Amino acid sequence: MSDVLDEIFERVVASRIFRNRDILSPDYIPDRLPHREEEIRRVGSVLAQALKGSRPNNLFIYGLTGTGKTAVTLYVLQRLEAKAKQLGVNVRYVYVNTRQRDTPYKVLADIASAIGVRVPFTGLSTAEIYTRLVRALSKQQGVLIVVLDEVDWLVRRRGDDLLYKLTRIGYDLPPGSTKVSLVGITNDVKFVEMLDARVRSSLGEEEVVFPPYNAEQLRDILWERASQAFQPGVVDEAVISYCAALAAREHGDARRALDLLRVAGEMAERENSPRVTVEHVKKAWVQLERDRIYEVVSTLPLHARLAILAALRAQHISGRPYTTTGELYSHYRELTQRVGVEAVTQRRISDIINELDMLGVLSARVVSRGRYGKTRMITLAADEKTVLSAIAQDPRLREIIRELEEAE
Ligand SMILES: Nc1ncnc2c1ncn2[C@@H]1O[C@H](COP(=O)(O)OP(=O)(O)OP(=O)(O)O)[C@@H](O)[C@H]1O
Ligand SMILES: [Mg+2]
Repeated sequence: MSDVLDEIFERVVASRIFRNRDILSPDYIPDRLPHREEEIRRVGSVLAQALKGSRPNNLFIYGLTGTGKTAVTLYVLQRLEAKAKQLGVNVRYVYVNTRQRDTPYKVLADIASAIGVRVPFTGLSTAEIYTRLVRALSKQQGVLIVVLDEVDWLVRRRGDDLLYKLTRIGYDLPPGSTKVSLVGITNDVKFVEMLDARVRSSLGEEEVVFPPYNAEQLRDILWERASQAFQPGVVDEAVISYCAALAAREHGDARRALDLLRVAGEMAERENSPRVTVEHVKKAWVQLERDRIYEVVSTLPLHARLAILAALRAQHISGRPYTTTGELYSHYRELTQRVGVEAVTQRRISDIINELDMLGVLSARVVSRGRYGKTRMITLAADEKTVLSAIAQDPRLREIIRELEEAE
């Protein structure tokens, strides 16, 4: 008897599309990173000092999202570790992503456990873990490289105290202890301004900036991964170029390009198609964009969500396909009363509209109204259903959404 699950299982096992789908997953580290030779060389030459037992300069890496910062850093560190083993020198590294490990406690606990100090999940003070860490470092030799990835998350939430402490940890250690070197990574250009000048100068002893990829470079990256991930002949030039072109438009994000190719492959597989087509890529784009908008809207603060609802409400009531800042604001005020929260100023709402425009949720175009001056034409820039379903996670707003949907 064949049932639906059998069919699904068979389809995946006998996939005509994928040879190894994991190769397209975001955390896979490929053996080759095309168009990052220069960055690999620079990161490598800073960290190579560790092989001679010296403390490498601290290193600060920045560049837009998807430019290969994490991949290059881990690639270099894995190679460095292998070389150190071969030479018999003591070089270790610990990788901490501070978006996931989001407190000073967790970061210190990860560093401590990397050098063999056992730390309970909770219960100690941060100062106590630091003391234990210092004690262990002073009993050991060699070099420890601490990578703090997406370090802007930690600093935004918790300030830069920990970073300050870590850049000075050498002063707390007697001569002959482990030498500690820091690598900070961020994709937030404004992050640098948040840092205390002392932290900035010691973290930035060396700096490497990762430029975005262009469409041609993305094509090479995609070919490299696709040739291992897909069955032969499943993707062609047109598909790869199309993915590369779409991602290049989004500031050259390699993650986006790989996601597109992976989702397009999944769609082809589900449709039982023998190969991936440009149509699959187009559909993948729509789906990824929907996922992105859902995620963005889900994390918006209440007033931003109210501003979106106000924009939709203004459009529904006026019957026009757009609204203006003033009109949006008066609907927004009504909505705050309904929800029972205090309204923020029109100025603030204006800023929120700009932020929503940048995130691709609303579009706010300045238009001239002749002698009436200028105004902004505000429209929804994303799929309405997706936006509303993300907003509806907040129970306080469900009633308003229901009314909007009924009015349609
Ligand atoms: N030159 C390259 N060759 C092959 N794959 C690459 C290359 N650059 C990036 N990638 C791949 O693209 C994806 C994103 O890269 P990575 O995670 O290193 O970006 P990032 O700069 O750390 O971005 P973020 O700032 O968002 O963390 C990963 O899957 C990575 O393997
Ligand atoms: Mg990264």
